[in-house]
Amino acid sequence: MQVLNGLELSKKIKGEIKGEVDGLISQGHRPPHLVAILVGDDGASQTYVNNKIKSCKECGFKSSEIRKDASLTEKELIDIIENLNNDSAVDGFIIQLPLPKHIDENKILLKIKPEKDVDGFTPHSIGLMTLGLDGFKPATPYGIIKMLERYNIETKGKRCIVVGRSNIVGKPIGIMLGQNSQVGNCTVTILNSHTKNIESYTREADILIVAIGKPKMITAEMVKEGAVVIDVGITRVSDNSEKGFHLEGDVDYDGVAPKCSYITPVPGGVGPMTVTMLLFNTLQARKKTLAAKA
Ligand code: GUN
Repeated sequence: MQVLNGLELSKKIKGEIKGEVDGLISQGHRPPHLVAILVGDDGASQTYVNNKIKSCKECGFKSSEIRKDASLTEKELIDIIENLNNDSAVDGFIIQLPLPKHIDENKILLKIKPEKDVDGFTPHSIGLMTLGLDGFKPATPYGIIKMLERYNIETKGKRCIVVGRSNIVGKPIGIMLGQNSQVGNCTVTILNSHTKNIESYTREADILIVAIGKPKMITAEMVKEGAVVIDVGITRVSDNSEKGFHLEGDVDYDGVAPKCSYITPVPGGVGPMTVTMLLFNTLQARKKTLAAKA
């Protein structure tokens, strides 16, 4: 069994990104600039945004944060987005999800200019990705693809089961792994909360991807011997520690790991790769604007 060390791999890729940023700066260009919008005071979202800002600094990016109270109106958020769409000093921006209930997420995502959609969440980006065309790919599934690629894990002809059909992980990773591409050509089934007898599917999986948010729901008897297991879950579970919680994945790691050929830990697996691919997308956005000017 080999651990897919997302932390280590993300450091390596961030080093490559930093090298490209240094190159841009030495040619007299400004560095990429990412803006993160955070609405409300969800603790996990704050941590994610802090990590994104920290990683921007590590890679020599400029970053800005726009923090707003949960009472922000839809109209006010749309005004912020339109300003960022029109600001030539901003290469890409993200709206940390989830948004407060009174704001319609789909309506908001439609307002983001596709050229700045470095999260790859807009219908435009999802459309390009689904057609196998060049565009911003959502950071979490893209991070999983990069991990499979860099660890030289064969995907062609493999049976892939995705547990969870969210717009930001389950659906796009299912599409990406089913594409006719270098890391793809899997036979994919995406499960949802109405799927009956889920273990009959998970036990078939050569590659099992779990993105459901239920701690330790995948146990050893649900996994095939030699499977590649990718755990996207990251739930805060209350405890008596100083922080008051610890993080748990969707996979019962201790039970499942001995059966796997490869497995991602939580934390330190998919999470750091997500942040890294967001930076990768932002660098691409910067390079595209520079190429358009040339
Ligand atoms: N919420 C959970 N994951 C993500 C992510 O990758 N990007 C944004 N913007 N929000 C999220």
